[in-house]
Amino acid sequence: MEQIFIKTDRLILRRFNENDINSFYVYRSNPDVAKFQSWQDYQYEEAQAFVEGQMYHHPNIQGSWFQFAVALAETNELIGDCALHTPAIEPRIVEIGFTLSPNFQGNGFATEAVHGLLKFIFQTLGKHKVTAFSDVRNKKSIAVLERVGMRREAHLLQNYYTKGKWVDEYQYSILKSEWERK
Ligand SMILES: CC(C)(COP(=O)(O)OP(=O)(O)OC[C@H]1O[C@@H](n2cnc3c(N)ncnc32)[C@H](O)[C@@H]1OP(=O)(O)O)[C@@H](O)C(=O)NCCC(=O)NCCS
Repeated sequence: MEQIFIKTDRLILRRFNENDINSFYVYRSNPDVAKFQSWQDYQYEEAQAFVEGQMYHHPNIQGSWFQFAVALAETNELIGDCALHTPAIEPRIVEIGFTLSPNFQGNGFATEAVHGLLKFIFQTLGKHKVTAFSDVRNKKSIAVLERVGMRREAHLLQNYYTKGKWVDEYQYSILKSEWERK
């Protein structure tokens, strides 16, 4: 089996593999999943190139994004993904993102995956601060960020140009010291 980075009660966060391409394509190309994301009309070839690019990539490389495959611990079925951006200039402050297949939403899986990801980032990688950006209209994403204990730190007006218009975003953050107190 491929490398597992994080285990939670019901999930594993592992490296992507070729068997994930179809499931990844199916949820990424779903318009509901893409609504507040940068992509639209996502193609199978893009999913293939993306997964193949991640298969040999490593988390915590400065100046890059790593995508963890989120899978059910019992069956290893792909249900979503979590992203980790380690900036080149200040790698002690990282950014995260997350997506779940609509078939698996509403079960607390995103919250559980992000809890596990925060533990990995603070305990294993020893980072100082984690941030995430969400479109202000993305209520489900905001709910996940608040459930995992991240703090709304900024309201950024017209901060992101996507699908032909500027959108407002919230920045959510949590410091290592805050995470340790929880
Ligand atoms: C953002 C996203 C991952 C949230 O998914 P989600 O399924 O709503 O979030 P969770 O997995 O944490 O599940 C929470 C829901 O499950 C319910 N739930 C059931 N069992 C639960 C449990 N054991 N623990 C926590 N919540 C549970 C909660 O009550 C909540 O339901 P509600 O939305 O009706 O209040 C999903 O909407 C998505 O992939 N969106 C598209 C991509 C995107 O926009 N990503 C964010 C950009 S960073």
